[in-house]
Amino acid sequence: MAPTRSEIDSILSTIEVPGGNLVSTGMVREVEIEGSTVRVALVCPAALAASAPNIKATAERALLADPGIDTAEVTVRVMPPPQQVQGVASPQDDSWNNRIRGVRHVVPVASGKGGVGKSTVAANLALALARKGRKVGLLDADIYGPSQQLMMAPGEQPMANDQGKLRPVEGPGGVKLMSLGLIIPADQPVIWRGPLLMKAMEQLVGDVLWGELDELVVDLPPGTGDVVITLCQKLDLAGAVIVTTPQDVALIDARKALHMFQKMDEPVLGIVENMAGFTCPKCGHTEPIFGEGGGKRTAEELKIPFLGSVPIDPAIVVGGDSGRPVVEARPDSPAAKAFLGLADRVALALDAR
Ligand SMILES: Nc1ncnc2c1ncn2[C@@H]1O[C@H](COP(=O)(O)OP(=O)(O)O)[C@@H](O)[C@H]1O
Ligand SMILES: [Mg+2]
Repeated sequence: MAPTRSEIDSILSTIEVPGGNLVSTGMVREVEIEGSTVRVALVCPAALAASAPNIKATAERALLADPGIDTAEVTVRVMPPPQQVQGVASPQDDSWNNRIRGVRHVVPVASGKGGVGKSTVAANLALALARKGRKVGLLDADIYGPSQQLMMAPGEQPMANDQGKLRPVEGPGGVKLMSLGLIIPADQPVIWRGPLLMKAMEQLVGDVLWGELDELVVDLPPGTGDVVITLCQKLDLAGAVIVTTPQDVALIDARKALHMFQKMDEPVLGIVENMAGFTCPKCGHTEPIFGEGGGKRTAEELKIPFLGSVPIDPAIVVGGDSGRPVVEARPDSPAAKAFLGLADRVALALDAR
């Protein structure tokens, strides 16, 4: 009888590697079962590159020991080598910044909590800046749920050059994209916490061939945890964009995000209020579903610029799922216009620095 996926996983989980086993460390990228033939694609952190042949042989042997498996083919893809990122593990080390020397402005998009539209704002801000003729990259560093690979470039795979540097994927509007979701298995990102995860992040920041960029928009993980702080300290930020929704709970979290940047002495460009109201497509009436004016009031209270409101727009959801965010798919829609206005204010603030 053909083995099942969970049988394969339990076999692979008997193979130990530093930090756990093949399954728990997220190294299993794909499993294909065809009768008694099993093909397994593994990704291997550069730190384990020397053990790759051994891992392959051990995995094949373990699989073949199962009576249901006659043929086992294991491939191991080594992630980019760490040489280029060594020495940047400490946040104080400036060599990190030199690696993204071609980038004029690093613009993180942050939110105190998830689900407020941070990724939507990041993608559309990047596209809107590109529409203004700027050279833009988008880095998805959201370890808890990278989504830009789906929003911007479904089906694409990044390629590494001979030195293990990653070439960004070309997204819509000429925006260059790199996402954790492109280099780690989509269903297992959380497992990449700890040293393995930081390594992947360092590669994302240090080993991507961005080329010359006016702006690198960074989709940060939500919240104000260690990963966010470390990332922000490693990047030379030009100014953060904080995303909130009008609800009080979200506004409290937006304050936390602002305080985090202030504590780190990192500049903040301002607050964007997302899902600000729903405009009825039939009668044109706008209903402030989540309250009104909260983002603006909070920005005034906190003495930071208010960068604008983005309405609730069903076109955003469609765009977000189709690989063509609303600024690209429906540039005349109210939401796209709001993002273009946001990009104007962001570009103005950045150029004034
Ligand atoms: N202004 C908006 N109007 C309608 N849907 C939106 C809007 N902003 C975000 N969404 C939808 O809300 C969900 C969460 O947005 P997302 O950008 O993934 O949030 P986050 O990155 O903060 O978790 C997505 O399905 C997205 O399409
Ligand atoms: Mg997101």
